[in-house]
This record gives sequence, C-alpha cells and structure tokens, in this order.
Amino acid sequence: MNKINDKSNKVNRTSFSRILLAWYDIKARKLPWRITPELSKKGIKKDPYNVWISEIMLQQTNVKTVKNYYSNFINKWPDIYKLNDAEEDDILRSWSGLGYYRRALNLKKCARIICEKHDGKFPNNERELFNLPGIGKYTAAAISSIAFDKSAIVVDGNIERVIARIFEIKEDLKKNNLVIYKSLETVYPKKRSGDFAQAMMDLGSLICKPINPVCNLCPVIKNCIASKNETFDLIPLKKKRPKKVKKKGYIFIGITLKNEIILFKRPKNGLLGGTTCPPTSDWVEGNFPTLNPPYSGNWKTLDESILHTFTHFNLELKIMIANIKIPPKNAILESFNHNLLNLFPTVIRKCLNLALEYYSN
Ligand code: ADE
Repeated sequence: MNKINDKSNKVNRTSFSRILLAWYDIKARKLPWRITPELSKKGIKKDPYNVWISEIMLQQTNVKTVKNYYSNFINKWPDIYKLNDAEEDDILRSWSGLGYYRRALNLKKCARIICEKHDGKFPNNERELFNLPGIGKYTAAAISSIAFDKSAIVVDGNIERVIARIFEIKEDLKKNNLVIYKSLETVYPKKRSGDFAQAMMDLGSLICKPINPVCNLCPVIKNCIASKNETFDLIPLKKKRPKKVKKKGYIFIGITLKNEIILFKRPKNGLLGGTTCPPTSDWVEGNFPTLNPPYSGNWKTLDESILHTFTHFNLELKIMIANIKIPPKNAILESFNHNLLNLFPTVIRKCLNLALEYYSN
C-alpha cells in the first residue's frame, strides 16, 4: 500500500506547481481550442462552448485527429445557439470517423438544455456540469478549470500516469484511482488551475510518455520519486488486458439502377447509434450468423472482407452487394461514389471502399 503522506513521498506543492507552470509558459502546445499562457495569465479564457466541444472530442480520440474535426465543427457551429438549431443528422455526419457516436447525440441534447434552461450559458461549477448529458467527472472538472479557472482536480490518462510516477504509486489504478486525486490535490496551485491541468497533460504527452519517458527534459524531475528510484518503467502498474473477442457479421450494400446506395438510420442505442449506414446483420462471436438479408435482391459476397477494431472486440464483416430494382420504402438513398465516403463511420467506409472498387472494375 502506498502511503502518500510518507515523508519520503512528499512533493513540495509550491515548487512543483511553480516549476511546472513556468515550463508550460514556454512549452505549451499550441492547440486550436486553447488560449496561450500569456493571455490566460491576464485572465482571458476561452469560451466554455469551445472548451466543451474540444473536451468531448478528446474524450476518446487523440489530439492529432481532433485538431481538424474541432476546427471544422467550430466553423460550422460557432456557438451553442447555432448548435442547438443544427439537425442531429448533420452533427452525426460531421462526427463521422471520430467514433463513439453517442458523444455527438449527447452534444445536441446538452445544447438544448444549455439554451433552454441555462440561458445559453454553461454553468461554471463541476456539480452542475456533471448533470449535463455526455459530461462525466473528467469533463466537468476540465471545463470548470480550463474555462472558469475553478480549482477542480482534472485527471485524464496522461495526468494519472504523471502523478503515479511523481509519487511512485504502485497500486492498481484500474480498481481505484482515488489515490491519484488525493496526491494531485497536494500539488495543485491556488491560481491558474486550468493552465496547471493542461500543463500536466502536456507533460504527459511530450515528456512523461507511457514508454521511454524523456526524463532528462522533465522540468519536475527533482520531484519525481519514480525517476529517483528508476521505477518509471513499471509505473503505472500495467495489468494484462484480456484478449479481445472476435465478432462476425454481414453488411448489405444495395445499389439501385440509378446508382444510389440504400441506407437506413441505425437505432440510437448500440454501436454506431443514430448514424445512417447500409444495414448490417447482428455481429456475433463464433461463426458467421445465418445469412438473412434485410430486403430481397441478387445478393453476392465479395471475396475480400474487412477487419475493424472496436474498443472491446474485433469485427470481421463480409460484404454483400446487390443491384436493386425497387428499393425498400423507408430507405434513404444517396448517390454512390467516393464523395460519399466521409459521411460514414470508419468501419462502414472500409466496406464501401471495397464495394466501390468492385463496381469500378
Ligand atoms: N486532452 C484532453 N483535454 C486536453 C486539452 N485541453 N489539451 C490537450 N490534451 C487534452
């Protein structure tokens, strides 16, 4: 058991945050959703709307990917009222390729609540933020510290790793990471809470990397117990991940005589929830499910199937294609060509690429 109050594990609050913030003043990553440290020090903050959009996108997606999506999104819907007026399908389309589509559905729900119940303004405290759709403990803390400079304790994956190493925490953090919050609290500055959180993220991303951390460039190496004891490779404790199950299924790509693709809206709950896609079978473990197309046609199987990795399983989809004379009544039809591809989630895009290749030969 790690005792964070041990003398040996004490990290000086003032010196830690002062050194880290001085490093951030020089080394902060320039990201489109951020304000520079100079402006931030003058009390200028980014609009909470921008912080919210970026934090939702960053929940399960890396910084590099988010940069483009974020800028396109903000250009299209620059404020909460514009987003509230947007069509859900339009938001989902701008999300295609980012994954975890429930996030996009929650954005719309949250925008309605902010506009109708909060007069278009985000609440500034963690508790109220936490009650909004799609905003969990991390995101509530991130918005209230970055947009409002409230001293909320922000813990994401990067910050967890940095703190585990600084305090040499050897516990299984997957089970319980309260020790991270408690340790972090002891080094939190009284001012510049949002900058401090983002400095910790940058430290984790640029220096205190999961493997091969660049300790010789670390501004807080003197405070780091794992570096002193050369245990940083072992911390945070890594548990073997269970092997991902493999699921199998079919996707049905029907093309009309006018070269339109037949699409349906997927149910809101479940994977790819709410997106408009060619229909698929259930995805099951073991053998492929019984072939049961959603509407009749001269279905044939392409030789090549696609593989896709989701968080909890790997998927193999066999691609069924057919030319359809009379599309089903409730179908959504779109011209079938390459321009269409970026409307779809990545897994569907992979399938459509193969189908387009087939039709072009
Ligand atoms: N990941 C999540 N939030 C972030 C932020 N504000 N800056 C950089 N990376 C992040």
